[in-house]
Amino acid sequence: MPKQGTAKVAIIGAGYVGSTTAFSLLFSGVVGEIVLVDINRAKAQGEAMDLSHAATLIRPLKILSGEPRDCAGADILIFTAGANQRPGESRLDLVHRNARLVQEALPEFIHYCPDALILMVTNPVDILTYVAWKVSHLPPSRVLGSGTVLDSARFRHLLSLQVGVDPRNIHAYVIGEHGDTEVPVFSLANIAGIWLDEFPLTKGTVDRDLFKADISHQVREAAYEIIQRKGFTSYGVALALTRITEAILRDERRVLTISSVIHDLYDINYEVALSLPCVIGREGRISVLPLPLAPGEKLALHRSAETLREVIETLKI
Ligand code: LAC
Repeated sequence: MPKQGTAKVAIIGAGYVGSTTAFSLLFSGVVGEIVLVDINRAKAQGEAMDLSHAATLIRPLKILSGEPRDCAGADILIFTAGANQRPGESRLDLVHRNARLVQEALPEFIHYCPDALILMVTNPVDILTYVAWKVSHLPPSRVLGSGTVLDSARFRHLLSLQVGVDPRNIHAYVIGEHGDTEVPVFSLANIAGIWLDEFPLTKGTVDRDLFKADISHQVREAAYEIIQRKGFTSYGVALALTRITEAILRDERRVLTISSVIHDLYDINYEVALSLPCVIGREGRISVLPLPLAPGEKLALHRSAETLREVIETLKI
């Protein structure tokens, strides 16, 4: 394991998500070197220069732009490159363009840093996590996707507004696809150990079913709403990636709803990548936690898995 603060992270794609992630990693203190690679070399160079100046005001950190070979020795490869959603487009609409990109580009990076953990971000992230797993020939525990880590944060944020408690005291997960079929797990949501269903709501909402439907809708639509207004999402996903990177590099064993390839879990008996609460540490995914889901949630998870499987079947991999 690299010493705290000496790890090397390679970020593929220096767009909004890649460069904001690098910016956020500056503050976290877990990395010693960041390499930014982009098909637009000048953009990666410009971001690396700007970030290096910023780092000087925090603590010394090596931030470079480069080519695949400059990723040698990376501990984590964060893949953010690819087309992103335009207003009104779903994450799954991007699939063919971005799957091809992952198939073509990822192997060269892996060639230079075969020991790196892969962290996929480009959407549709679950499908691309599956593609990355296929093309990398790595075990599923070493190919992660940002998955619903951000959706779980959005869920906890909205619950926090309703119950008037710090989101850090709220345990609640969104599982399944990072997208339209995702599943917020209300049945297990709790605030400092008190079930959400028994917790008084500050806004005095009486109809709990309506309240849940409204929160599910807001979590699912969050990215669409942001994209409609600012054209892309960046801060939320960058912080989600920073949390995942910290959990890996500090071997935290933190529970995060990353996406990864599963098989024969939750009665899903085919290979598919989707999000479930996983224990994350230096080796990547250490375990997948078996949530005792309510029957409706289990059904919804299966529907989500089926949707992803159908998309995977349209790919030539
Ligand atoms: C979002 C992007 C990361 O949900 O899909 O903001």
